[in-house]
Formats: sequence, structure tokens, C-alpha cells
Amino acid sequence: MSTPKLRARELQKFYNGRKILDIKDLAIEKGELCLIVGPNGAGKTTLLMLLSFLDLPDRGEVYYDGINPNGSKSALLSVRRRLTLVMQRPVIFKTTVFKNVAYGLRVRHLRRGLIREKVTRSLSLVGLSGYEDRNALNLSQGEAQRVALARAIAVEPEVLMLDEPTANLDPANIRTIEDLVRLINRELGTTVVIVTHDMLQVRRLGGHVIFLSKGTIIREEWLPQITPQTPSDLWPDEAIEGEMLNLTTFRGKLGTDYPPDVVERRRGTALKPGPENRPANGAPVFPTL
Ligand SMILES: Nc1ncnc2c1ncn2[C@@H]1O[C@H](COP(=O)(O)OP(=O)(O)OP(=O)(O)O)[C@@H](O)[C@H]1O
Ligand SMILES: [Mg+2]
Repeated sequence: MSTPKLRARELQKFYNGRKILDIKDLAIEKGELCLIVGPNGAGKTTLLMLLSFLDLPDRGEVYYDGINPNGSKSALLSVRRRLTLVMQRPVIFKTTVFKNVAYGLRVRHLRRGLIREKVTRSLSLVGLSGYEDRNALNLSQGEAQRVALARAIAVEPEVLMLDEPTANLDPANIRTIEDLVRLINRELGTTVVIVTHDMLQVRRLGGHVIFLSKGTIIREEWLPQITPQTPSDLWPDEAIEGEMLNLTTFRGKLGTDYPPDVVERRRGTALKPGPENRPANGAPVFPTL
């Protein structure tokens, strides 16, 4: 098997003598879409800080492409250039949106024309075309979060880490970000690690799911990654228009989009799990989440 993109071994972090994180072994493969879920205080952000080498563990190691860069300044710098973390409360600079997004490109000394091209493309991908000259400090929380995401993708990192990227967004923008995550992950081959509370989002995106509780991994699952054929495949139109508040179902095909053991429900009538109620393979299903 190939070397994982990221690996944590016997990882521990303490705050004020309290063990916050205790991860025995975690491997995130190259090109994976990895979702970290868990309640408030579970240690999700702490884990992300260690996996992005922005913080040091008290015990254990984190490896990037098989190498532990902690302890070597040059190795750390090299890894940090290849990996980007968008924080839960993103840092926004007191300047224009353009300069905010261009930041990482300027640090890498790209030529002006190329910077403009990449900033324009990144803003368009997060749904903020035309925002270039706005003062970033006057943006709404959701817009600011997308500017931070645009800044992160502009540098085309090997690994993109997002700490609750859709927490402050409305349904239409959640969809923009989820589509973007799929695009980055599948078409550019970027390894993506996302922290989320949103189990519906976990189902919508699929991938390597890590359940964190009280600092430990209590479960790991690999959910199918669904390719939406049309926008309404995963999102009922009402949800996009903001009319539907309770998203309990989404569509798919049994056996292809979902493993056969999903608990399914047809619109309106709940089906009890069990072989007698199971639709045939390939039949449309509306899983209960
Ligand atoms: N710098 C710190 N000093 C002391 N305690 C900390 C520090 N950072 C985190 N903690 C504690 O560590 C635990 C895990 O925090 P963390 O921020 O990783 O949780 P989380 O899973 O990201 O939660 P949330 O869903 O609220 O973002 C919490 O109990 C928190 O209070
Ligand atoms: Mg957090």
C-alpha cells in the first residue's frame, strides 16, 4: 500500500493537565475526502491544528508523505506550503477582497497577471465574482468564510483542510461549497479534510468519515461518494430556495449510490428496515438520515 498523505500515531495533546486528544493511529490517503465529525469540544479543531503542523503534539507523531517535519524548520516550511487550513473563525485582512485572496500567491512571488487570473477564478468558484474591490472587513460572516476559502484554493494546495466551512452559510452557498469540495477533490485530486457537525453534509459528500468523541476516534466509516447528476439530485429545489428547513431526505439509487443496508424511506411513507421492505437494487431511495 502507498504511503498515506497524512498519518498520526500515538498522538496526544494535553491542556492544563487534561488529555484533550488521544489518537492511536489515523491514516488519510492521498486524494481522499475525509470528514471529521463529533460534538462540541470533541477535539476536532485540535486534531486539525496538529494535522496541519500549526501546533505540536505533546506525544506522538504526525507524518506528511511519510516524513515527520516537526522539529525541522525547512521541512515544516516545505509542508506548510503544500497544505492549507481554513480556520473555524477565518483570518481576514483589513484590505480588499482581492488582496485577501492574493495573499498566498504574493508570498509565492507569482507574476501579477497570473495572480489576477487565479484570484478571479477562485472568487468565481466560491460564488463571489465581482467582490474584488470590496473591503473585506465589511463582509458578512458567510462571505468572509468564502473569501478565506478562495484564498486557500488559490494556491492549489496538495491538502486542503476546512474547519466547519459551511457553518455560517445559507443552503445555496452550502451547495456551492460542497460542489467546490467535490470538484477540488475529484478533478484536481486534492486531499480534502473537512470538520463538520452536519450529518446531512456527511451523507451528501461521503468519503472517509472519522467520528471523534472526547478526543478519541470512536468509529471510522467509508461512505459512498455520490456524484450528483443534476442539481436537484441531492438538494430538493425547495431547499435551494430556502423554503425547506428540515432536510431529512435526499435521492439516490440503491446499490449504486447507497450500500444495500441503508435504512430507506420513500417520500411521505416511512419504511421499516427489513428485507420485505427493501426496494430492488437500482430503485430510487430516500434514506432517512
Ligand atoms: N488553547 C487551549 N487551551 C485550553 N483548552 C483548550 C485549548 N484549545 C482547546 N481546548 C479544549 O480542548 C477541547 C477540545 O477543543 P476543540 O476546539 O478541539 O474542540 P472542537 O471539537 O473543535 O469543538 P467545536 O465543535 O466547538 O469547534 C475543549 O474542551 C477545549 O476547551
Ligand atoms: Mg472546533
